[in-house]
Amino acid sequence: MPDSTMTTPNSIDLADFAVGLPKAELHLHLEGTLEPELKFALAARNGIQLPESTVDEVRATYDFTDLTSFLAVYYPAMRVLVTPEDFHDLAWDYLQRAATQGVVHAELFFDPQAHTSRGVPFADVIGGYRRAIVRAEKELGVSAELVLCFLRDFSAEYAMATLMEALPYKQWIVGVGLDSDERGNPPAKFTDVFARARAEGFLLTMHCDIDQPGSIEHIRQVIEDIGVDRIDHGTNILEDDRLVEIVRERGIGLTCCPVSNSFVTAQMKADEIVALLRRGIRVTINSDDPAYFGGYVADNYVALAREAGLDAATLAQLAVNSFEASWLTPGRAAAYVERVRGYAAQHGVDLPAS
Ligand code: HPA
Ligand code: ZN
Repeated sequence: MPDSTMTTPNSIDLADFAVGLPKAELHLHLEGTLEPELKFALAARNGIQLPESTVDEVRATYDFTDLTSFLAVYYPAMRVLVTPEDFHDLAWDYLQRAATQGVVHAELFFDPQAHTSRGVPFADVIGGYRRAIVRAEKELGVSAELVLCFLRDFSAEYAMATLMEALPYKQWIVGVGLDSDERGNPPAKFTDVFARARAEGFLLTMHCDIDQPGSIEHIRQVIEDIGVDRIDHGTNILEDDRLVEIVRERGIGLTCCPVSNSFVTAQMKADEIVALLRRGIRVTINSDDPAYFGGYVADNYVALAREAGLDAATLAQLAVNSFEASWLTPGRAAAYVERVRGYAAQHGVDLPAS
């Protein structure tokens, strides 16, 4: 854990340090990387008419006050994604940008039901994404995995059918998650789907969004009833010391997204994120839907550092956490942690031995 024995040389530029820091991105929705420029290009390629005609007009619609108002803009934008090529281009654009932000490994959420519900075949979605991932490994040296998210405002039956549809592609999917509108859609709605996913060998994560009605009960369900391996967001766990202790003991990672938090709530929740870090929770920093919230992963590290007054050593600790909370094999995770330590040492930043 970060403490006062860590040194941060005054000469370090935190933004440069954050960009160069090797890190894993664990909370990134591929559909949330659809930048307006690509949206226009795909619309033109697919002969789709958009209501907006300039990038500024698109950005003017990004006027979110909460999760629901964000999702109301997010899903309609996806109709420009039609062919396997479109899904490839979306993921490839993201992976190139991620490489420039110091991402060396990414576990990427995708929402197949946002496409199959429009008539796009599952095979086209995952085929396009997979091609970009293979290419990124080869051309960028970035490793990536897919995490299939079920949309919680659709039925448990549709989620189960989607899981069945995904089974032939098991080798391309490391885990399953749960996203979309949490109101009235508790984790318990999907207990059977997640039990089946676990039995099929998938790792499990679920969104417990910030300040939702029933947040702490939802967090309890994912920990005690579902048995997740990770929690997405989840900072409301601070309301229950007992759950904080369970998550700490089990080493369950929390994938926090400070810039996103500042769009769907009134603030980044920096105090909560830092409090959890100081209590020994595997907190990680991620970008969620960067095309909409305007911050890729290094930007999130910097935004949090500025808001909470964090030093370079704490940023390095967050990068260590990103590999320890990842779904890499223990050997690969340990090798990446060594890279973080080497990078920190090169910059004169001391991290305590773990
Ligand atoms: N929460 C719920 N659903 C989402 C999110 C999120 O942070 N991002 C994209 N879909
Ligand atoms: Zn998310």
